[in-house]
Amino acid sequence: MKKEMKKILVTGSVGQIGSELTLALREKYGAENVIATGRKTKPSKALLESGPFHFIDVTSIASVEEIVKKYNIDTVYHMAAILSAVGEGNPQLCWNVNMNGTINVLELGLKYEMARVIIPSSIAVWGKGVPLENTPQETVLKPSTMYGVTKVAAEILCDYYVARFGLDIRGLRYPGIISSETLPGGGTTDYAVAIYYEAVAKKHYTCFVRENTVLPMMYMPDCIKSTIDLAEADFNKLMHHSDFNIASMSFSVKELADAINKYMPDFKVDYAPDHRQKIADSWPNSIDDSCAKEEWGWQPSWNLDSVTKDMLEKLTERHKKGELYPE
Ligand code: SER
Repeated sequence: MKKEMKKILVTGSVGQIGSELTLALREKYGAENVIATGRKTKPSKALLESGPFHFIDVTSIASVEEIVKKYNIDTVYHMAAILSAVGEGNPQLCWNVNMNGTINVLELGLKYEMARVIIPSSIAVWGKGVPLENTPQETVLKPSTMYGVTKVAAEILCDYYVARFGLDIRGLRYPGIISSETLPGGGTTDYAVAIYYEAVAKKHYTCFVRENTVLPMMYMPDCIKSTIDLAEADFNKLMHHSDFNIASMSFSVKELADAINKYMPDFKVDYAPDHRQKIADSWPNSIDDSCAKEEWGWQPSWNLDSVTKDMLEKLTERHKKGELYPE
C-alpha cells in the first residue's frame, strides 16, 4: 500500500528550485507540514514567514536526522547539491555534498521507513558518446563534470536502494531551469536565467556560451509540476525510478535573444564564451521523455514565447521594487 506523505523535509530550500518548490509544497500539503532547510544562504522572507525553516548540513547525517526526528519526517525532497560550474571549481566539495548528502538521506529514508524520497538528477549525466538529438532514456552515461559523475552515481545508488531495500525513491533529469524568483547558483545553464535579469536591468547581456549553443530548458512552473506529479505517481506504474528523462523546450541562445527582442527591441547580447562552453557542448540539445509521458503522464505547458513574456513581466515588476539582485 502507498504510504502517505504527511511531513515533508526539503533540503536545499533556499536554492533556485527549492525556494519555489517549498512554497508550492506548503500550498498543497499545509505550511506546517513542509520543513524547509538550507546550509547557510539567508532564506527569503516568503520562505521564512510561510513555515518552519532550519539550517542543516546534509553532509552530516546527525544534522539531517535531528530534523527528521523532530518533525517525524516521512518524505524528503533532496534538492541540496553543488552544480556543474561550481563543481568544476571544487570537485571534492561537489562529491562530498552531492554523494554524502544523498546517501545520508537514503539511510534516513530506510531507518525511518519513509514514504518517499525525491532526488533530482540532471542533463549533466550525459557526456561523451551520447546522441545529442532526442537523447534516449537508456544510453551511454559518461559525464565530463564532477557534478555529472555524482548525478550518475546517485541515480544508480537510488535505483539500488529501490531494488535492494524497497525504498520508494524517484528522480528526474532536469534540463536547465528558468525562473524569476531565485537565481541559480553556479550551473552551466544559468545564462538562460541571467539573460532575462540583465535584459530587464541593463538591456544588455554578455553571454558565456556561443550564440549557437542549444540546450534543453524548462520553466519553473513545469519543473515544480513535474516534480510533484512524479512524487504523487502510482509506484506500481513506474518502470523507472531515479532517472526519468524529462523535456520541455530546446533553443539556441540566438533564439532566446530573438524571443526577448520581440518584447524588448533595444535589448542586445554579445558573447564571451568561457570554460562553461565545453560543459554546454557535452550536454544534449534535446531529450526524448516518452517514458515520463507513458509512466506518469508528463506533459509540459510552457514554450519559449510564453516563458519570455512571463519572465519579462515578473522581472520588470521585481526590478521596480528593487528586488532583482537582493543581498
Ligand atoms: N542547471 C544545471 C547546471 O547547469 C544542470 O542540471 O549545472
